Amino acid sequence: MTISFQDRVAIVTGAGGGLGRAYALELARRGAKVVVNDLGASRDGTGTSDAAQQVVDEIKAAGGMAMADGSSVTEYDQMQAMVARAKSEWGSVDILINNAGILRDKTFAKMEPSDFELVVQVHLMGAANATKAVWETMREQAYGRILMTASSTGLYGNFGQTNYGAAKLALAGFTKSLYLEGAKYNIRVNTLAPTAGTRMTEDLFPPEAFKLFAPENVVPAALFLVSEDAPSNAIVAAGAGVVAAAYVTLTPGVALPEGERTPEGVAAAWSQITSREGEIVPNSGAEQGAMALKALQASGLVTPSGTRG
Ligand code: NAI
Repeated sequence: MTISFQDRVAIVTGAGGGLGRAYALELARRGAKVVVNDLGASRDGTGTSDAAQQVVDEIKAAGGMAMADGSSVTEYDQMQAMVARAKSEWGSVDILINNAGILRDKTFAKMEPSDFELVVQVHLMGAANATKAVWETMREQAYGRILMTASSTGLYGNFGQTNYGAAKLALAGFTKSLYLEGAKYNIRVNTLAPTAGTRMTEDLFPPEAFKLFAPENVVPAALFLVSEDAPSNAIVAAGAGVVAAAYVTLTPGVALPEGERTPEGVAAAWSQITSREGEIVPNSGAEQGAMALKALQASGLVTPSGTRG
């Protein structure tokens, strides 16, 4: 079955280069009308350029429909204006890919609070601003597909990227609550952790890997996650054409008897607490509470009706 984006309106932030450009080109090739947002900043977030317009020119030259938006995701009023323009031109906004990002890598010891703040500002607040700007429209039209861009650094860590990692895992957290709020309006929200050879990773990848990890190899996963039949609340890792799923899991846990509810009791039970046998993937925070209740019931500390056994 062909996945089409015919007549869909999509906004891709940070689409003036790298991954965002690749998403925008393919969305347009498959029929979407695309808002190419990009401030045109350098890798550390300084400066501006006409990067967005260049991608729009490429899309138009290939016969697609696109408009450039040079605003910054850090400015909520600019995000609102961008959405208003897309709606007045094309009538709706169906898809949002939050992709804009910058780097300020340093060890935490050397990092200024301002480097931490700016990275959080662009990745996390930028995604919150753009999402808030489209949210009411998506609720009203009972259709929306939103993709957050996380990172392996956010999910698993990386030396020298505490600011970036904190912001990126926060986006998975954003997804996990937002998908619950969007479900009844047919708004699906997912998280993608891409790996690609772009200017962001140019000093990390050897030249041969750069080709293997071309942004185009992340596009299939990104586009599936904003398609009509997209899942919701998935965390997907994609790079070099390899697509995988990541989960935040929970072990069954140990119900400490009353006399052992001490730090020493936790120490004694540590290997059982961290044993992954029987772990689950909760679909909401409430399911963590349910798992605790289950552990209490299994240990006979409470009966299924909640009374003390
Ligand atoms: P990139 O640097 O080519 O793209 C980021 C784009 O965001 C740039 O075009 C930049 O001008 C734009 N941007 C920066 N600040 C902005 C702002 N305030 N408002 C609007 N646009 C802004 O890098 P790449 O690799 O394409 O990154 C895309 C996304 O994927 C980022 O969120 C990045 O953190 C994420 N990512 C990339 C990985 C990779 O392996 N390349 C790995 C994990 C995550």
